Amino acid sequence: RTEVLTIPVVVHVVHDRAVPADDIADEQIHSQIEALNRDFRAANPDVAKVPDVWKALVADARVEFRLATRGPDGEPATGIVRVATDRHDFTVDDGVKSGATGGSDPWPSDEYLNLWVCRLRGGLLGYAQFPGGPPQTDGVVILNTAFGTTGTAAHPFDGGRTATHEIGHWLDLYHVWGDDDGACTSDDKVADTPNQADANYGLPAFPRVTCGNGPNGDMFVNYMDYTDDAGMFMFTRGQAARMNACLEGVRASFLV
Ligand code: ARG
Ligand code: ZN
Ligand code: CA
Repeated sequence: RTEVLTIPVVVHVVHDRAVPADDIADEQIHSQIEALNRDFRAANPDVAKVPDVWKALVADARVEFRLATRGPDGEPATGIVRVATDRHDFTVDDGVKSGATGGSDPWPSDEYLNLWVCRLRGGLLGYAQFPGGPPQTDGVVILNTAFGTTGTAAHPFDGGRTATHEIGHWLDLYHVWGDDDGACTSDDKVADTPNQADANYGLPAFPRVTCGNGPNGDMFVNYMDYTDDAGMFMFTRGQAARMNACLEGVRASFLV
């Protein structure tokens, strides 16, 4: 694919009716869309911080995101759905994805990327559904204080990178360490990301060698690691190819 693909997004702001600040401003939502459009086009200024050894691997995924301008009924829409709920917070059980459980029903997930923004319990920043799952729960959930770059977005997750990471999963990317708890036996099925032992947190110093991956070590600057937002700034060519394969396969409904 050489042309840029634009994915229509609907943001469901599911807010505790007793906490006015949870009904985040449009500006914060727009700041998230802008961050995604920088990150997925390799137009983020901090891409300059990628260690020299990986600069040639930096990829423009040629995917952009735009708040939907029409709703499922074909009528003009803002792409923002606001639901005041009696629930204070949610968890990974997908309760936020249905009006029947105090959340908001998805728009058709073959036409829209559904992004739910809410409070999440247990320090969870967000979670995603991989391609091929049930349409009724398809999409990405993001903690309200880790969403966008303005308003309630809070350091160190105020760079909009939680959504970048979760949408990576939504487009079939695995964590760069392969989720094998340090065993070095499983990787992310992407050839140009080094095999690495486990997640990295905070802001690691280069190089960080694990699994015999020296001299360059773990690619902790990748969006699919777990560092702070200020420490992640690239997808690789191999990851972009994997996301593109997803968009030509399971998620081909977005290609039209
Ligand atoms: N699902 C991950 C978590 O909840 C998301 C990590 C995103 N990392 C970030 N720097 N924004 O921990
Ligand atoms: Zn993840
Ligand atoms: Ca790899």
